[in-house]
Amino acid sequence: MPQSRRPPSSASLSKGKRSKPDNKKRNSPTGQNNNNARKGDDDNINPLVLSQFKTILNTFQHTFSHLFTPELPQIIQAVKQSLYLRDYVAAFDSPEKLQAYVVRWSVARALAYFEMISGGWWSEDVTRIFTTNRRLSVTCVGGGAGAEIVGITAAYSFLKPPVTTTTTEDKEDGGLDLTFLDFATWAPITDSLYTTLTDSTIEKPKISIDKSKFSAKCYQQDILTPLSESTISSMASADIVTILFTAGELYSQSPTATTKFFMSLHALTKPGALLVVVDSAGGFEDLDVLNKNSQGSSNDRESKNLGGYKLGFLLDKTLTNREQWTTIVSQDAKWWRVPQGIKDNGGYPLELENMRCLIRVYRRDGDP
Ligand SMILES: C[S@@+](CC[C@H](N)C(=O)[O-])C[C@H]1O[C@@H](n2cnc3c(N)ncnc32)[C@H](O)[C@@H]1O
Repeated sequence: MPQSRRPPSSASLSKGKRSKPDNKKRNSPTGQNNNNARKGDDDNINPLVLSQFKTILNTFQHTFSHLFTPELPQIIQAVKQSLYLRDYVAAFDSPEKLQAYVVRWSVARALAYFEMISGGWWSEDVTRIFTTNRRLSVTCVGGGAGAEIVGITAAYSFLKPPVTTTTTEDKEDGGLDLTFLDFATWAPITDSLYTTLTDSTIEKPKISIDKSKFSAKCYQQDILTPLSESTISSMASADIVTILFTAGELYSQSPTATTKFFMSLHALTKPGALLVVVDSAGGFEDLDVLNKNSQGSSNDRESKNLGGYKLGFLLDKTLTNREQWTTIVSQDAKWWRVPQGIKDNGGYPLELENMRCLIRVYRRDGDP
């Protein structure tokens, strides 16, 4: 059961109200896959991209089809209420509540992560890794709630070239190994989504991935405490480590332990590994860290004045000052918006939110 002191939704529920997204300017993707992604505005959305967005929605709806009943809004309301009250035991005290959280809040994130990878938002380097036939290993810190498994797998199946187009030096047969490290018990959720993703009997269109080349493991790990052997080995083999909408939560739990964790990442990962951090734009104002501290009360592990440091600044300072990581993407506030094509068609029965994101991507430098 999730025990996050700062619930997944409490930050995101208040986000998006801060300022309005600029609907005139679409987030035009960069990188080699420009023609795969959104161009200009929604009218110009590439039909293949729109179709993959729909398969993402189908994946969630199929996996949790039993949940889409007239009672669902009540379950979501109960989860939301408990999250506002920070009563995480009550928020997730049944499988239905965990699933309700996923269908309500992880779906837009999965759409966003798919578009960020396929559209080059996380750098051409990240997108390129998905377009080779090498076996790809991704470790997702705080990644158990379903958005990562669906979003990353959708990008992988969308970008992976057909085996026949491989070059001689690119002869591997591909494959995707995902590891989710989360201190909450999300394994039943990732297992259910894995089952849907690999079920070849499900009618197309679906995210297509070959079960024999796809693994997804969810380990229960508080990333701010000593790491298990499985965690260490997943970090060591990762081509990409993601920390999506989780870094702010970690800092709110313990700035010191979080800084230590980020500082340890160089030793844990291999040279050339990419680290992707996405969070709510706006840094710590969204996380109430300063408010909590100024009131002198906190359920957090540690109460410490962060002096108004913004998340991006903290990350840059911690990771790049000792020349262990090189910044390759630095965006302080970039809107991701739900495609109009999805909204217009009533593509999903629940609300999907736009997101204003801080994005940082770093490449691990070599060992001295
Ligand atoms: C806001 S949610 C984001 C979920 C997901 N990454 C996404 O983008 O939708 C934060 C996630 O981080 C996890 N988390 C929070 N603190 C953690 C910690 N100390 N160690 C491991 N996981 C943690 C929570 O359980 C939750 O799944």
